[in-house]
Amino acid sequence: MGLLKKLFTNCAHPKGRMGRAMLQFMNCCHAPLTNWGLGLVNIQDGWTMLDIGCGGGATLQRLLKRSKNGVVYGIDISEESVAKAKKVNADVIDKKVFVTQGSAEKLPYEDGKFDLVTAVETVYFWPNLSGCLQEVRRVLKPGGKFAILVEVVDSDSKWTNVVEGMTAYSPEQLQQLLDEAGFIHTEMYRKKPSYATILGMRP
Ligand SMILES: C[S@@+](CC[C@H](N)C(=O)[O-])C[C@H]1O[C@@H](n2cnc3c(N)ncnc32)[C@H](O)[C@@H]1O
Repeated sequence: MGLLKKLFTNCAHPKGRMGRAMLQFMNCCHAPLTNWGLGLVNIQDGWTMLDIGCGGGATLQRLLKRSKNGVVYGIDISEESVAKAKKVNADVIDKKVFVTQGSAEKLPYEDGKFDLVTAVETVYFWPNLSGCLQEVRRVLKPGGKFAILVEVVDSDSKWTNVVEGMTAYSPEQLQQLLDEAGFIHTEMYRKKPSYATILGMRP
């Protein structure tokens, strides 16, 4: 595998030294998208929140900062991501931040637990996205919100050729998938250069 391909494959499932470097990089370079997207959600004090595909854990910090007395859960399929997210949140780990290894396909949380679920730059890698959306809906409280944050990529873009296992979705497709999964009040926001946030609510 070429070096570039190997580097970007660490976006989908960070592993080893290169995975750790990619997680460090993503914690910084996803800040503008994440801060903009989270700003579209009216995050309240005391919320219980979940970030799926939490990577290196910066979104967990950003969520916690926006909710006084809030609690944040993170889940990621990669062992390397879980280790990094725990390290980055070491001061509050297992107190206000809880990180688990696992997949969006089968979330290890009870029904109706969360006020907010977020997914930043990760839905491209979820197998059976429709099934995963049902899982998200299951773990949300009635009235709970789901926020998908992505940098828009075209289906024929260089990214899907370089990043193994990546599927590109347009913001319109993601909104339609949320509608089909039974989310209500779905909304789509765009920001230059290529950011998109898609919101939905559990009825
Ligand atoms: C591009 S990184 C984004 C990480 C982080 N959200 C951020 O914004 O920096 C994608 C992350 O999604 C995780 N991931 C991929 N497939 C997943 C799945 N099925 N369930 C949970 N996490 C997954 C990867 O391990 C990786 O940490």
